[in-house]
Amino acid sequence: MNLLLIGPPGAGKGTQAERLRERFQIPHLSVGDMLREAVKRGTELGRMAAEVMNRGELLPDDLVGEMVARRLSEADCERGFILDGYPRNRSQADRFDAILAAQRRKLDRAVAIRMALVELLTRLTGRRVCSGCGAGYHLFNRPSRKEGVCDACGGQLLQRMDDREEVVRERLRVYERQTQPLLEHYRKRNILSEIDGVGRVEEVEARIAAALGRAVR
Ligand code: AP5
Repeated sequence: MNLLLIGPPGAGKGTQAERLRERFQIPHLSVGDMLREAVKRGTELGRMAAEVMNRGELLPDDLVGEMVARRLSEADCERGFILDGYPRNRSQADRFDAILAAQRRKLDRAVAIRMALVELLTRLTGRRVCSGCGAGYHLFNRPSRKEGVCDACGGQLLQRMDDREEVVRERLRVYERQTQPLLEHYRKRNILSEIDGVGRVEEVEARIAAALGRAVR
């Protein structure tokens, strides 16, 4: 199954992609995670990515297109993929169509997760991530047992640089202006499922699974 997750920052794309990865045993490809990995390694790409991400803007379309094309051609994607965070604008959507055509594949489903702005702000500004193992926490929804310390590995919990409120607001503006219009692109092809992102993680997952059950055999 070739699957796309679309949604505003904080809608739960990464959380749901991880659950779908386990359920369907296909890889979760997150452009945001690939970029953060480059930042961690301190590569040239990482330095550029850090600057752009910390402003809440998008990296150049060609650059992310190359990253996605390369990743999709790896062996573990042969049985399918869950793509989270790409495409994010019309130019990326056209490039993505071309990448799939070149690899003789097609997209089975685009799942859009809907959420209200106020809820997104709370989710993102309260998010904390373990600097050691990458486990996710939330100040109110999923606090660690000891403040600032990961339950799993004892690592320090940090706020993502782009989860500061002023950056979150810019990321939301970018989503509304550039990414949301893509829903129409997939709706016209009859492969769009729109899911309510409010509720427990398991409830949202069940909605997605139901939509996929109807859409993909
Ligand atoms: P990226 O890392 O992809 O960030 P994003 O799309 O803004 O999404 P997030 O990771 O913030 O949120 P999410 O929807 O995955 O939610 P999550 O599951 O984490 O991209 C970052 C940056 O990289 C971009 O701004 C851009 O600069 C660059 N970039 C990425 N892709 C690019 C592209 N294609 N082109 C150019 N540049 C690109 O959940 C959020 C929080 O809510 C967590 O704390 C979680 O625990 C909690 N949560 C999740 N579900 C629930 C629930 N049901 N109930 C309560 N809490 C929940």
